[in-house]
Amino acid sequence: MSVASSLLMRAARREPVEHTPVWFMRQAGRVLPEYRAVRKDFTLMEIARRPELCAEVTLQPVRRFGVDAAILFADIMHPLAGVGVDLEIVDAVGPVIRTPVRSSAEVSALRPLVTETDLPFVLDTIRILKKELGGKIPLIGFSGAPFTLASYLIEGQASRDFLRTKTMMHSAPELWNDLMDCLTEIVIAYLKAQHVAGADVLQLFDSWVGCLSPKDYASHVEPYCRRIFAALDGSGTPLIHFGVNTGTLLPLMKDDGASVIGVDWRIPLDDAWDIIGHDKAIQGNLDPAILLSSPEAIEREVRDVLRRADGRPGHIFNLGHGLLPETPVDAVQRVVDVVHEAGHAPAPRDSRVPAGARR
Ligand code: CP3
Repeated sequence: MSVASSLLMRAARREPVEHTPVWFMRQAGRVLPEYRAVRKDFTLMEIARRPELCAEVTLQPVRRFGVDAAILFADIMHPLAGVGVDLEIVDAVGPVIRTPVRSSAEVSALRPLVTETDLPFVLDTIRILKKELGGKIPLIGFSGAPFTLASYLIEGQASRDFLRTKTMMHSAPELWNDLMDCLTEIVIAYLKAQHVAGADVLQLFDSWVGCLSPKDYASHVEPYCRRIFAALDGSGTPLIHFGVNTGTLLPLMKDDGASVIGVDWRIPLDDAWDIIGHDKAIQGNLDPAILLSSPEAIEREVRDVLRRADGRPGHIFNLGHGLLPETPVDAVQRVVDVVHEAGHAPAPRDSRVPAGARR
């Protein structure tokens, strides 16, 4: 088997597979005792700067759970740290920016990313991982998307209402455009370098974009996403565009150039797939909270997602957002096992649920 013929790569190309590939956003991390052991001695950024250790942490969930992809252990803030933004990843808070970017002087101070010299450890980690994964399991590289990065830069940390971000977007559109322009170039440079170093798939995490109306997404964010996917189009790499709460944005996101759209649990998978069209692959979308419930509930809900995918080529099983730190490891294993054991013999036509009665 080669990476190109792996389950994940075939599903991303919407080719038939024996069983649905599964991986989890945040599969490396606090859910795993072996990760918590490493974190006793090193911070997240310290792990990232040690390629051997970072590769090891990336591989932990692959070994333990038998997931169908590895995702580079990094944070969405890496490219910003790479261009010198002073930030810290604070426990239970997330990224915190020391000097938020709110004025034109602060936007102008952002510089382009030269991944090879600014983040050499990321590329070294990818090279180690490519060897370790033995040409069988694909490696997913990723970046935060411009909107989500901009929201951290402007707000200074995670936000509920994104008020400062939206205010800049509407009251200072030129400044917003300059910032998004700069972030877009950083993201393109970062993803291209990951691809060249060996990443097989690239995911753009636009985690917080679902806070926008379709109108604002179309005018103030979409052109930048399109530019990113267009710049990577020639790479031949499957491109995944993921955001939380994007039900109303999917009719736009489907045309932005990604080959796979990641959706959260707020929209039934079959409804989301109808919206993005069956010429796209889909990734998702179990509610991560389900993994804290009983084994029976987990199995039932995993099967519900699979039933909605209905054996159509092009489904990559994932959660609708990252694994929650409280998740028991057994629950993660159960999801992997149920997905893998479900196999793919398509249900007989007449047992399929009619389109109008799927909820
Ligand atoms: O396994 C993987 O998925 C790869 C590693 C990964 C991390 N962050 C490591 C991490 C990935 C893909 C991310 C992406 C990321 N980081 C996103 C996009 C996905 C999403 O959740 O929407 C976002 C928004 C961030 C920003 C961020 N970093 C947050 C919100 C947090 C959580 C804060 C907390 O402590 O609850 C982080 C910290 C972080 N990034 C951790 C990990 C494993 C946990 C803290 C730690 O181990 O120090």
